[in-house]
Amino acid sequence: MSDVTPKRKKLYIETVGCQMNLLDSELVVGKLRNEGYELTDDIGKADTILYNTCSVRQHAEDKIYSALGRIKQLKQLKPELTIGVLGCMAQKDQKQILKRAPHVDIVVGPGQLARVPELLVLAKEQATPQMAVSLPRTAGSNETVTASFAEYDPIREPAMRPTPFQAFVRIMMGCDKFCTYCIVPSVRGPEQSRPAAVIVDEARALADQGVKEITLLGQTVNSYRSVDASGRTFRLSDLLERLHEIEGLQRIKFITNFPNDMTDDLLQAVRDLPRVSRYLHVPAQSGCDEVLKRMKRTYSVALYDDMLDRIRATVPDAAVSSDFIVGFPGESEASFEKSMRLVERGRFKNSYIFKYSPRQGTKADTLFIDDIPEEVKKRRNNDLLVLQTAISQEDNRRLIGQNLEVLVEGPSKSSKGVAVDEIGQFSGRSSCDRIVVFEGHERLVGQFVPVTIEDASGVTLFGRVVTMDLVAPRA
Ligand code: 5AD
Ligand code: SF4
Repeated sequence: MSDVTPKRKKLYIETVGCQMNLLDSELVVGKLRNEGYELTDDIGKADTILYNTCSVRQHAEDKIYSALGRIKQLKQLKPELTIGVLGCMAQKDQKQILKRAPHVDIVVGPGQLARVPELLVLAKEQATPQMAVSLPRTAGSNETVTASFAEYDPIREPAMRPTPFQAFVRIMMGCDKFCTYCIVPSVRGPEQSRPAAVIVDEARALADQGVKEITLLGQTVNSYRSVDASGRTFRLSDLLERLHEIEGLQRIKFITNFPNDMTDDLLQAVRDLPRVSRYLHVPAQSGCDEVLKRMKRTYSVALYDDMLDRIRATVPDAAVSSDFIVGFPGESEASFEKSMRLVERGRFKNSYIFKYSPRQGTKADTLFIDDIPEEVKKRRNNDLLVLQTAISQEDNRRLIGQNLEVLVEGPSKSSKGVAVDEIGQFSGRSSCDRIVVFEGHERLVGQFVPVTIEDASGVTLFGRVVTMDLVAPRA
């Protein structure tokens, strides 16, 4: 072997937070691989360590600050190591990160990720930390602020996706809803919809690379609206119609929805386009009108209930999931009970439940005192979760005996390490986004297979591949 080939720099990356962050990490890594980096999952072997961070709750930030604390020693032992903090916490805390963790070399907000490769080089060359962040929402005209949150969707690298047959596609950036508890509008900037033609081209390129399932991403994905050069407006329903025509794409999902924008044209598109997933994630956040008002969610419980009725009437087989925040300032026991009742009525597939976490820079943090004690938040979180799990289990058990089409994702969690060519437990998801575990074969990964459901828990369906020939073909 000749030793003239330059040694590839080793990159270790950790990602916390939502699917947007997973996509951002994929794109950053793709770019860095082109610049000569290779990924390692051994932090001790890395030349560059990146954290792609989340700011939505305090806990997510604490995790990153303690990880930064842990690697301080690593940097002392290995001064050539480059450490970067990317994403929402970088945008929110900016210089504070360098104060708390002076061994950090680059701080890059979600609107400036294209600059990561350049800043890694600069940090080394100038031996001083580099920072690239977007403007605060109040820094100038909407155009100026928007321009500082640059679109970041470079050419996709097939090798970087969690699986070669699934991909995220960003259709919107930022958020303008300004729910009072939420940091997202300040760290991800103004709402911007990407042009429909650009999204369709990206989806087509992904399909050509063998992607079978795409998940469209936006903070309020159903508020999508773009206008093309000829003046034609595209709503999410129009975009779905376009994407549905792409050969090779077999499943199209979209997350996360805002209740007010769950319009009939969208529900009809979900009903009429068979490759669109029967899954709607529409966070309610609370079942109490007074709390919703203080959250500035701009809808009432009655509107949310009406939306659920419209969903059930138009797409009866759709699964709906929700998010709830418990312990929002001023949430009385009676208000909380109303969230319990909404979970009962809503029959959600699942709910993501969060304890309110005050975020500096949000309206709720300045307007209200975080007055619900931690034990009360914990209890409410637990009560809501127990109720939701019982409902999920009941509804999942109703699916016993049905055949669901499952996109096989890989060995199930409990049986990771199944050797190639072995029969073992595999898992995948149905069109209604339920996790299905069944006995399968490595060969089925990336395929759509019909599975008969035989058993169910609150989170998982257990089944058998309808044609066992698919699992173990007869000789
Ligand atoms: N505290 C707790 N949960 C929050 N979320 C957003 N901001 C906060 C906060 N400050 C939750 C909402 C949202 C999900 C992504 O995170 O439920 O839908
Ligand atoms: Fe945050 Fe509300 Fe925007 Fe969702 S809709 S990202 S909760 S501000």
